[in-house]
Amino acid sequence: MLAAIPDPAADPSLRDLIAARPNLKYDAMAGLLLDGVPLAGIADAVGTPTWVYSAAAMRGRYRHLTGAMTDAGIDLHVHYAVKANDGRAVLDLFNRQGAGADVVSGGELRKVLNAGFPASRIVYSGVGKAEAELRLALEHDIGQINIESAEELAMIAGLATTLGRQARIALRVNPDIDAGGNDKITTGRATDKFGIAYSDAAMLYAHAATLPGITPVGLATHIGSQVLTLAPYRAAFRRLADLVVTLRGRGLPVETVDCGGGLGIPYRNEPAPSPTGLAGTIKAAFHNLDVRVVIEPGRWLVGPAGVLLASVVLVKQAPGMRFIVLDAAMNDLVRPAMYDAWHGIVPISAIDAAQPTQPATVVGPVCESGDTFARSRQLPPLARNARVAILDAGAYGVVMSSTYNARPLAAEVWVEGDRWSVIRDRQPVEALWAREHLPA
Ligand code: LLP
Repeated sequence: MLAAIPDPAADPSLRDLIAARPNLKYDAMAGLLLDGVPLAGIADAVGTPTWVYSAAAMRGRYRHLTGAMTDAGIDLHVHYAVKANDGRAVLDLFNRQGAGADVVSGGELRKVLNAGFPASRIVYSGVGKAEAELRLALEHDIGQINIESAEELAMIAGLATTLGRQARIALRVNPDIDAGGNDKITTGRATDKFGIAYSDAAMLYAHAATLPGITPVGLATHIGSQVLTLAPYRAAFRRLADLVVTLRGRGLPVETVDCGGGLGIPYRNEPAPSPTGLAGTIKAAFHNLDVRVVIEPGRWLVGPAGVLLASVVLVKQAPGMRFIVLDAAMNDLVRPAMYDAWHGIVPISAIDAAQPTQPATVVGPVCESGDTFARSRQLPPLARNARVAILDAGAYGVVMSSTYNARPLAAEVWVEGDRWSVIRDRQPVEALWAREHLPA
């Protein structure tokens, strides 16, 4: 199921978009502020396109999430899904909060180790961990490796034995539940490549317990991303809880249940579940099982904490159409092109924001019609060089960027209190060919 293009009549107004985002507000003179810092000043100094993140938003969201779990009386361990945004500053922030990390590649594993995450707080998921990546995980003795197939279990048992290591593994179970979101990011159906079939899980867990080099510690699942209702979680967790009971009934120890990530955010001010709601769902499923609960949120923690600043290159009028052409493009933020994702787009200038709106199509300069950020979007008249902020760009933004059309990677800026600093320089154009060689 692909997300349909949303009905523009149901779009929130600029005012409603800002009102729903506590870190953003307009100042009549300075324009749009992120935690009190004028975004226009950042754009003037660093240029555009530029990603800007609020440290306060990330920290606040982390505390909100863990607070909701504590209030529900859950023994919880948050493993930040670093794929959402693996910038050094972001990793450092969550490490200081005491979070663990959920990684899906040797590169991410190296990044979080380099950022100082203790190996014991690292979980490694993914359907195709290469031998060298598994070896790296074993050599660092990371906290947990989520196994996604019988084939992978055999591979890791062999490696662990050779290396003289003991691998703490969880079986990632595919609960065959449709999380109801975008087809491309739904992961818990039997036809998805992820996890071990529910019907095979108990047998494989028992088998794992007999293998040298393997210590099964529990079960994991992850049903998808940008999940907007609790019902699929409820169904998946119930299946997992049943499996815990079955395994224990066979005398097999199960300490940990890893509930995955996926908690959605209201990009379009649509109803979305709260951490309290998720906590209630976890509690309902596992409260009498005495398990250690892990969650792997990515988007919920960082998505709303970031914006992508862009400038208007020109406004192109065509019969019945107004195209606002930005200097940011699908190579920077690919989500609209890739998933038909809806992102709020707001002017930086308070004067622009106060003008009456008209429909516009907001595009980037890349040579593909898919390089479209928004269609039929109500926006004020925006002149050349006007700035806009594309909202909720903190997750799956910079990490999915490319240099398509030889467009260097954008700069990144960190806002901490009333100060800001560049955390990643804009890529110099020479870097685009620096590692190329003419054939011998
Ligand atoms: N755990 C596992 C095993 C995952 O595969 C993912 C995301 C997460 C946790 C974190 O999910 P989150 O809480 O962020 O929803 N590029 C897409 C999203 C891909 C998500 C992939 N897996 C997007 O831009 O919407």
